[in-house]
Amino acid sequence: TIERTFSIVKPDAVKRNLVGAIYQRFENAGLKIVAAKMLHLNAEKAQGFYAEHENKPFFDDLVSFMTSGPVLVQVLEGEDAIVRYRELMGKTNPEEAACGTIRADFALSMRHNSVHGSDSPESAAREIAYFFADDEICPRG
Ligand code: CMP
Repeated sequence: TIERTFSIVKPDAVKRNLVGAIYQRFENAGLKIVAAKMLHLNAEKAQGFYAEHENKPFFDDLVSFMTSGPVLVQVLEGEDAIVRYRELMGKTNPEEAACGTIRADFALSMRHNSVHGSDSPESAAREIAYFFADDEICPRG
């Protein structure tokens, strides 16, 4: 099935000029970028995005980090895009991420882990709608 998933290139990666290298990974994996923009999140926007984690001990540091500099948000489209993008990213903790994954190659730590990706079809739908209006998504055919 052709799916859409939501992706963030996080502040640690934007700061280190890794946007092109990470977009290249998406494209090499056959994931098509169908929407993209740069944003500097404020605390309210980051807290709302990560609402499911609001009771976790790492929540405040996560929000501080995600508002520490600009991010790129994008919608990726392709066959089984949700699972395939998660495989491409590797595990949340870069020390556990498989060789050749984005996080193994670029992430600095569990918090500064370079990319975010939706974990299910339900979160993909919510996360895409949280950042993009329907008319900002450009079907590629
Ligand atoms: P992400 O996929 O964006 O979803 C939630 C984020 O919280 C996750 O990536 C990590 O960056 C961060 N995170 C998850 N668990 C921890 C943890 N134990 N300590 C610090 N940060 C965490």
